[in-house]
Amino acid sequence: MSEHPTPDATGDVLLRATGLTRHFQIGGAFSRRTLHAVDEAELTIGHNEIVALAGESGSGKSTVARLLAMVYKPTAGEIWFDGKPLSGRRSRKDQLAYRSQAPMVFQDPFSSINPVYRISHGLLRSLKLHRPELDAAGREAEAERLLTTVGLTPAAAYMQKYPYEMSGGQRQRIGFAQALASNPKLIIADEPVSMLDASIRIGLLNLMTELRDKSNVSFLYITHDLASARYAADRLVVMYAGHIVEQGPIEEILAEPRHPYTQLLLATVPDPRAPLSELAGADRGEPPRVVDPVPGCRFRARCPIAVAECATVTPPLRQLSEGHQVACHRAETVTDSVWTGHTSKELSSNEAHSNEASSSEHSSKESA
Ligand SMILES: Nc1ncnc2c1ncn2[C@@H]1O[C@H](COP(=O)(O)OP(=O)(O)OP(=O)(O)O)[C@@H](O)[C@H]1O
Ligand code: SF4
Ligand SMILES: [Mg+2]
Repeated sequence: MSEHPTPDATGDVLLRATGLTRHFQIGGAFSRRTLHAVDEAELTIGHNEIVALAGESGSGKSTVARLLAMVYKPTAGEIWFDGKPLSGRRSRKDQLAYRSQAPMVFQDPFSSINPVYRISHGLLRSLKLHRPELDAAGREAEAERLLTTVGLTPAAAYMQKYPYEMSGGQRQRIGFAQALASNPKLIIADEPVSMLDASIRIGLLNLMTELRDKSNVSFLYITHDLASARYAADRLVVMYAGHIVEQGPIEEILAEPRHPYTQLLLATVPDPRAPLSELAGADRGEPPRVVDPVPGCRFRARCPIAVAECATVTPPLRQLSEGHQVACHRAETVTDSVWTGHTSKELSSNEAHSNEASSSEHSSKESA
C-alpha cells in the first residue's frame, strides 16, 4: 500500500468518470426491456494509483472496465482522461490512440496470447503498431526490456518460447508486457489473477505495485478478492447492482465499512463470491432488480436496516469523510456491523486474518 493522497484531495486525476451509465436493450420486439448494467457512476483514478473495483457477480464491474477502455459507448455520462473528454475522440485513429494509453488485461491468460506464435511475435507486433519511432533493432531491445520489466528473465530465452511452454502466471506476465508495449498511463485489469493459483497471484500483485511505483502506471484492478485488493490497491470502489455504493481509501473502508453491502462483502471473506444467502441474516429478499429498475436503493430487499425512504429514493453517493463516499441514506448511523453486531474492526480483522492466511500460503514467493 502506498501513502498516496486521494486524487480528489489534490486534483491530481488521471481519469474521471461522471454520471457514467450503460444500459442494454434486452428481449424481443414485443418485450423490450432495459437492463441497467451501470447507472450514474462517479469514479476517479489518480496518477500512479491502483483502484480496486469489487462487487458480486453481475454488479457491473466488467461493464465499467469496457466503458473506460472505450469498448462500450456510455448511454450517458462522460469519461475524462488527462483532462480531455473521451466523447471528443470521434475518429478511429483517436480511439486507437486512447486504447494504447489505457489497454486492458483480461482474466484468462490462456486465451489472450496467440498459441501459434513465439512470444516475440506478439510483442514485436504491438511495438510496431504503437511505437513507430523504433526500428527493428530498437523493437527487439524494447521487447526484451519489457519482458525483464515483467520479471521474465533471461528475456532473450522467453522471446523464443511458445505460450504452451509457459505457466499461467508467466502468460499473464506476457499479457502485462503486451499492455506495456504502448507506454500506457493506465492498465484496466479485469480479474487478472482470479484464474491463477493462489501461490502465483502474489507475484502478479507485486508486479502491479512495481509498475505503479517505477513505471508510473495506474491500474483499475477488478477483483472479487478483498485480501488481494488490500495487498495491492490504494483505493477501493464497491459496486452493487450497477451502482457504486462505497468508495475511498482502502484501509479506511476495510477498517470502517459504512455501507451494509460492503460490510457483507467483508464478512464473506475469504470467499466474497459466496452467495449472500450463506451469511446469517443475509438470506432475505429477492436479488436486485437491474431490468427496468424502480427508484430506491437496490440493496433494500436484503438490507436489515432499510427504512421507508429506501424504497422510494435512490441514495446518492455522499461524502462522509475526505475521499470516502457512501450511497446509503443511513450511512451516518452504520458503525457496527448491521449483520452480526460485530464492530467494524472485528469485520476488518476477519479480512486481515484471511490476508495473513493467504500471505503465509504465498510466502514462498513464486517465480512464475
Ligand atoms: N453485452 C451485454 N448485453 C446485455 N447485457 C449485458 C451485456 N454485458 C453485460 N450485461 C449485463 O450487465 C450486468 C453487469 O454485467 P458485468 O459483466 O459488468 O458484471 P460483472 O460485475 O463484471 O460480473 P462478473 O463478476 O460475473 O464478471 C449483468 O446483468 C450482465 O448480464
Ligand atoms: S439506503 Fe437504505 S436499503 Fe440501502 S443500504 Fe442504506 S439503509 Fe439499506
Ligand atoms: Mg466481470
